[in-house]
Amino acid sequence: MWGAGTMGTQIAELMALEGIRVVLRDADAQAPERARATIGAHLGRRVERGRMDARDAQARLALVDVDPGEAALAEVDLGIEAVPELIEVKRPVLAAMDRLLGPGAIVATNTSSLSVGELAAGLVHPERFLGLHFFHPVAAMRLVEVIRHRGTAPAVMSAAIRLVRDLGKLPIVLQDSPGFIVNRVLMAAMAEVLRYQEETGIDPSSVDAALVGGGVVPVGPFALADALGLDVVLHVQERLVAALGSRFAGGRLAAMVAAGRLGAKRGEGFYRRGEEGKPSPPLAEREAQRVAERFLLAAVLEAVKLLEEGVASARDVDRAMRAGAGFAQGPLRWADEQGLDRVAQRVEELGRQGGGARWQVPPLLRQLLAEGRLGVRTGQGFHAHRSAPGTGRAGG
Ligand SMILES: NC(=O)c1ccc[n+]([C@@H]2O[C@H](COP(=O)([O-])OP(=O)(O)OC[C@H]3O[C@@H](n4cnc5c(N)ncnc54)[C@H](O)[C@@H]3O)[C@@H](O)[C@H]2O)c1
Repeated sequence: MWGAGTMGTQIAELMALEGIRVVLRDADAQAPERARATIGAHLGRRVERGRMDARDAQARLALVDVDPGEAALAEVDLGIEAVPELIEVKRPVLAAMDRLLGPGAIVATNTSSLSVGELAAGLVHPERFLGLHFFHPVAAMRLVEVIRHRGTAPAVMSAAIRLVRDLGKLPIVLQDSPGFIVNRVLMAAMAEVLRYQEETGIDPSSVDAALVGGGVVPVGPFALADALGLDVVLHVQERLVAALGSRFAGGRLAAMVAAGRLGAKRGEGFYRRGEEGKPSPPLAEREAQRVAERFLLAAVLEAVKLLEEGVASARDVDRAMRAGAGFAQGPLRWADEQGLDRVAQRVEELGRQGGGARWQVPPLLRQLLAEGRLGVRTGQGFHAHRSAPGTGRAGG
């Protein structure tokens, strides 16, 4: 593990819990020891709660090596970097991993927003390099996005997928693309409600309540942005705007960050500390439905783009959004249930109502409509549906 910060520590803990030896390296000489102490404290808590016996906990902690020496690195099967999210910091770290690890080892990045292909460019052995995007908090999040760049060898992908499964996680394979699956689709949907809130002036907590109450997501987008840090969300938004366009732009994030309102860590973002549980002004039922529909339609349009670009399959996009963003239903599955004709009609209406260029029926959706694939109703849509509507046993 290169980088023993927030993510490096959590990934190392996961490995040790699964009985895998892990070595920690960091530019800060104290960081690996701190990480080991954190892992030790977590294991201690398991023992106190009777979930692990003390000897087992000791054995797991003994798997975490903080001072391996370079010779030991030649035996490593997989190196993961979790150093700061800057290409100029990651590049030399990856080059060192490529040089120090044995020829059979896989080299992976835990980047959440940089291009895996660009990071591969400087490596002597790009064929053994891929993205392994673990989510925070690692122990609770089942999803790992497994990102292939053009030159990743198929055998390396298979080995990485096996490892992710062995760790008890859900590997979702995708082609390198800005924001991968979860951040891209989630940010498209979030940007839609950020703009909606800015345009209408509705209380953010009311938007959250509409989406949570409607069973769309377990945490509303404004509460989620506060928890992640508005500076972090703004950074992702800016990257996606630069890479993919203005459909990701808008909302009050930039102004709030400039005013120092960074979310939970500063006690004030869209919510004020201590006021999270306060009842929100309820939206009229039609408005609550409108918010939920715009959130989901924006997610659908972005998910369709992923299919058109060949980034991932419909099944994997939906699985990633459920496991990585807590969507109750994958957006493509939701579209199939609504009826693709109805989805297309609503998109056109929003476009006519002045929603801008983002509300256009994408070519793939037009093609499905032309083929009579309207979703659950016709048995075919983005997914194949094996059973009659209403039985709840559709495939995909
Ligand atoms: N924190 C999250 O929620 C999250 C979620 C998914 C992915 N990620 C990604 O994981 C990566 C790490 O994020 P983090 O939150 O753990 O960061 P962090 O700041 O907590 O940890 C980074 C660690 O890297 C070390 N470091 C800096 N330069 C180094 C170098 N040249 N060589 C070795 N170590 C070096 C630092 O000392 C620090 O301990 C980033 O790419 C981030 O985008 C973060």
